[in-house]
Amino acid sequence: MGPGALTAVPGRVLSFYVHVPFCASRCGYCDFNTYAPAQLPGMSVRDYVQAAHREIDQAARALSGDGRTVSTVFFGGGTPTMAADDELGGLLAHLRESFGLVPAAEITTEANPETLDERRLENLRAAGFNRLSLGMQSGDEQVLATLERRHSPGRAVQVASWAHRAGFDNVSLDLIYGAPGETMGQWRASLEAALGAAPEHVSAYGLIVEEGTAMARRIQHGRLPAPDEDLEADKYLLAESLLGGAGLVNYEISNWALPGREAAHNMAYWRGDDWWGIGPGAHSHIGVVRWWNVKHPRRYAAMLAEDVSPRAGHEILDEAIGHEETVMLRLRLREGLGLDELTGAERAPLAGLVGRGLVEITGERVRLTLAGRLFGDAVTREVLG
Ligand SMILES: C[S@@+](CC[C@H](N)C(=O)[O-])C[C@H]1O[C@@H](n2cnc3c(N)ncnc32)[C@H](O)[C@@H]1O
Ligand code: SF4
Repeated sequence: MGPGALTAVPGRVLSFYVHVPFCASRCGYCDFNTYAPAQLPGMSVRDYVQAAHREIDQAARALSGDGRTVSTVFFGGGTPTMAADDELGGLLAHLRESFGLVPAAEITTEANPETLDERRLENLRAAGFNRLSLGMQSGDEQVLATLERRHSPGRAVQVASWAHRAGFDNVSLDLIYGAPGETMGQWRASLEAALGAAPEHVSAYGLIVEEGTAMARRIQHGRLPAPDEDLEADKYLLAESLLGGAGLVNYEISNWALPGREAAHNMAYWRGDDWWGIGPGAHSHIGVVRWWNVKHPRRYAAMLAEDVSPRAGHEILDEAIGHEETVMLRLRLREGLGLDELTGAERAPLAGLVGRGLVEITGERVRLTLAGRLFGDAVTREVLG
């Protein structure tokens, strides 16, 4: 990568993602870059944290002329709360000292409900975290068992209420719909349970059966039924109806928030801002460069121990790819896309899509309707031609 490649683009905010690649155990459906302790013999969370500090130093050197302070920080995983509070706080403090944070910066950590208690929440709040994203997934015992989750149905709601009490005024719950065997009644109960925690934000993802996961094998061998795809649209519509009824506004196909509590970090990704991803397998995007780190935590730590960049590869974004991504990501947003951001050929199918009730045009912007959100990918394909 040549000098100057990481030049700041005017108007873009700078964010940091910190990937913590550990989980107490693997959930059968998940193919994130994360490891249970037995899968990483000889490597501790502390080793990883040390390496991550070194990568922050590398980022500080690479961005020394950048001049921007950081708008959002997101610790994700894996399970960031597998690291101790002072380890997470130490990494955040290092970012703050190296780059500074804008006033009211959004600082999120993901967490699994079973890893947190009241004391830990107070510690995290005191360390500067102001947003908590909890993997609830379901409020139903049977569905949680199918997903191989370790927590009880009520645990996420309990942790959310402790978090509010500890001073977090921005708590998000992740839900998954469409697990094998999940009924509409179970999904409704999950949504109602989540709303009982008065979350400021909810993400609801349709289950993806990822190839190579334990869940995919169980389905292949007939030990689990395949997810019922016919129910998927109805489950999405039920989410919209119940979450919307509670004042949570859908601002991205899979995300709902109280006004003002939209995830600024995710918005930075979706709007194509700049971010640096710390950690094994993390992706970064700054200026016209995108790069990704080596995937394996041990290799990552070994490279940083030598103060070598953990980068595995990079690409210079060409305008055509950048444009397609912009269309794809922004069409998923409630704010939609300016008509002037589309080429003439991309505007051509819009009249037909409006006629079929899949998109609407207000002023100079195009966005998906509720029906369009059910077929977001197909609409994007049609626009991009
Ligand atoms: C990195 S995980 C994070 C949080 C935390 N480790 C947990 O599971 O509680 C982020 C979210 O992605 C979603 N997710 C992971 N694998 C998925 C899959 N195969 N299909 C749909 N959603 C998935 C889950 O809702 C999960 O909470
Ligand atoms: S869903 Fe969360 S807890 Fe489960 S394996 Fe994936 S990252 Fe770990």
